Amino acid sequence: MSRIKDYNPQSLPFSGELEGMSEKTIQIHHDKLYVGYVNKMNEIDEKLAEIAHGEREVLGNQTYSELRALRRGETFATNGTYLHEYYFNVLGGDGSIPENELMSAIIEKWDSFENFKKYFSESAMAVRGWLVLSWDVQLGRLKVYGCDTHDEGGVWGCLPIFALDVFEHAYFIDHGSDRKAYIEAFWKNMDWNKANEIFVKWNGIKR
Ligand SMILES: [Fe+2]
Repeated sequence: MSRIKDYNPQSLPFSGELEGMSEKTIQIHHDKLYVGYVNKMNEIDEKLAEIAHGEREVLGNQTYSELRALRRGETFATNGTYLHEYYFNVLGGDGSIPENELMSAIIEKWDSFENFKKYFSESAMAVRGWLVLSWDVQLGRLKVYGCDTHDEGGVWGCLPIFALDVFEHAYFIDHGSDRKAYIEAFWKNMDWNKANEIFVKWNGIKR
């Protein structure tokens, strides 16, 4: 059994200023928090590999054990890594709404882009961590799912198209407690072509 190589942090996919999202916020968010999740993901993976390869014998216990801590940490760090990538990937655009496959699917499901935006934005006020537009493989259609933290509330069998981070670290420097203003800024920096690339990749995958 070969070991997985370290996962490399992805660079920010854009350069230059964003509207309503300062360089300081993005730098802390990407370089410290996101990269921190990647580092922990690799550290945990290495420890699990030692156990999987039989180099260390450990016993599992659901109340407390090293293996429980690793299992809990693995999903937290890995989801923390992936969700941030689905977030940063769609920033750097100008928010303009192109005609593409994703937009057609959004309008087909929610009747209009404005309906979708309102529903998504209000849902982002109702969760504590993430709101995700995803391709639900079980249903074979778009779904919006939310969660309060990285390892709770996600639905298996769903492929993220983009994620909106609503933890306070994403906006407190720039907007204080005004999460609505941050969500508006997110839409202004949205690159819908990037989101469409991912949608096209997932679209059609069914169970
Ligand atoms: Fe974050």
